[in-house]
Amino acid sequence: MTTLQNEVLSRRTFAIISHPDAGKTTLTEQLLLFGGAIRAAGTVKGKKTGKYATSDWMEIEKQRGISVTSSVMQFDYDNKRVNILDTPGHQDFSEDTYRTLMAVDSAVMIIDAAKGIEAQTLKLFKVCKMRGIPIFTFVNKLDRQGREPLEIMEELEEVLGIESYAMNWPIGMGKEFLGIYDRHHKRIEQFRVEDHERFLPLNKEGELEGDHAIKRSGLYDQALEDVMLLEEAGNEFTEERLANGDITPVFFGSALTNFGVQTFLETYLEFAPSPQPRKSDIGAIEPAGEEFSGFVFKIQANMNPAHRDRIAFLRICSGKFERGMSVQLSRTGKTIKLSSSTSFLADDRNTVDVAVSGDIIGIYDTGNYQIGDTITESKKSFQFEKLPQFTPELFMRVTAKNVMKQKHFHKGINQLVQEGAIQLYKTLRTEDIILGAVGQLQFEVFEHRMKNEYNVDVVMENIGSKIARWIENENEVKDSMSSSRSMLVKDRHDRLVFLFENDFAMRWFSDKHPDIKLYSLL
Ligand code: G4P
Repeated sequence: MTTLQNEVLSRRTFAIISHPDAGKTTLTEQLLLFGGAIRAAGTVKGKKTGKYATSDWMEIEKQRGISVTSSVMQFDYDNKRVNILDTPGHQDFSEDTYRTLMAVDSAVMIIDAAKGIEAQTLKLFKVCKMRGIPIFTFVNKLDRQGREPLEIMEELEEVLGIESYAMNWPIGMGKEFLGIYDRHHKRIEQFRVEDHERFLPLNKEGELEGDHAIKRSGLYDQALEDVMLLEEAGNEFTEERLANGDITPVFFGSALTNFGVQTFLETYLEFAPSPQPRKSDIGAIEPAGEEFSGFVFKIQANMNPAHRDRIAFLRICSGKFERGMSVQLSRTGKTIKLSSSTSFLADDRNTVDVAVSGDIIGIYDTGNYQIGDTITESKKSFQFEKLPQFTPELFMRVTAKNVMKQKHFHKGINQLVQEGAIQLYKTLRTEDIILGAVGQLQFEVFEHRMKNEYNVDVVMENIGSKIARWIENENEVKDSMSSSRSMLVKDRHDRLVFLFENDFAMRWFSDKHPDIKLYSLL
């Protein structure tokens, strides 16, 4: 095996998908601690120590200027190089959050044991499911009373439509949480027990030998019964089914008390895929192929006017990145020298010298790149599969404050739309400009960049959240079908789109016009 092949096989690149407050920051911090990427145990979000979990630096850095450290975190563990890509939530939720999922090889879904599957988790899950990538589930906060584990497993199947396989199973919960029955490692891992006594081996029958305090609780018997039930009636786990995204291995634990996290990490590393071939217009590109290639999945513009630089995030898909190398931008055919690039070690902003498939590099950008761009070393350039467009949910009507600035206004909008920062729609006759986004942050970034980069003040009129639906049989659509509750617009590819006021308006429309076939993007 070549060194490059070995390097690629060691890569594990994933994102955490979860709803705010499920414990993403806490889990990330624990993983980084295991990897030695951060040293301070620090309270999560640093309330007590003043230190921040790396994944939470985003907010703080944004106030000061550009943040890259928080976007990708890298560490080594068990001879593997792990890349965690941050998927911003809360107010920072945007199309970038979705697009980040295009750059990973697997996903880790965190579920709060008391809350089950929440809205944002569901949205992000759908994107992962569409890609058919493996999804690992971590059910968090077992140190608190939550839902019955079987109920959570059922919810996974019913709400998400994915089969689940419990890799381990909780023994008790909340105040009575004793640990986990680890089906995979055939051992019991005890909660709040020192290292050397933490693991209790199970015999061939999957039971604890002899007399042990944990057996006397009744909770052990309950867990054993549940596990037997899972053995008999549960789903079958195979690596192939995991690889296809048909089944999700489920782990129980408590990120805050660092329980079950190491077991999760080690099992994850055992089963998670290394970088896979990527589709392109000349066929699949092999990750260990000699020639360097990658695609841009995110461009982070600087919110600080003093620093106009932007960073294009590139997922490497083949070959090896070396500083100073010359590459081709497939869209324009332009040759670019990659001299200043950043890698993303958790501690600091480091300059990367060598990176391979699965790794993410940040390239300083002076306006060359667009989201979805393919970069290749090879002379015969090609394009990776297009990144999908996501269905926006929030809409604003926008105009230039100063009518004299029309030219700059349109130039700015066109560039920001092409770059993928925001989506553009127009009303049919009056051609009013309507912007669509999946998160509020996109509008804020838009307004800010229009002012700072194009010197245009914009007036934004919130027209609220809408359900956008494209139309299969556009020829059947008539102007008269448009109303205030079902507004007809064009997208930037001139496709017709209905913006429905709400679910009710959409159903009402479909009842009235059963022949019109509506569909949504992702
Ligand atoms: P997020 O990034 O997904 O939004 O979640 P985060 O890690 O910030 O965790 C959200 C809250 O849940 C935090 O509490 C955190 O301490 C708590 N938490 C995370 N994992 C566990 C766990 O395993 N058990 C318990 N009991 N709680 C957990 P908070 O009070 O909102 O945080 P803070 O305000 O003290 O920072």
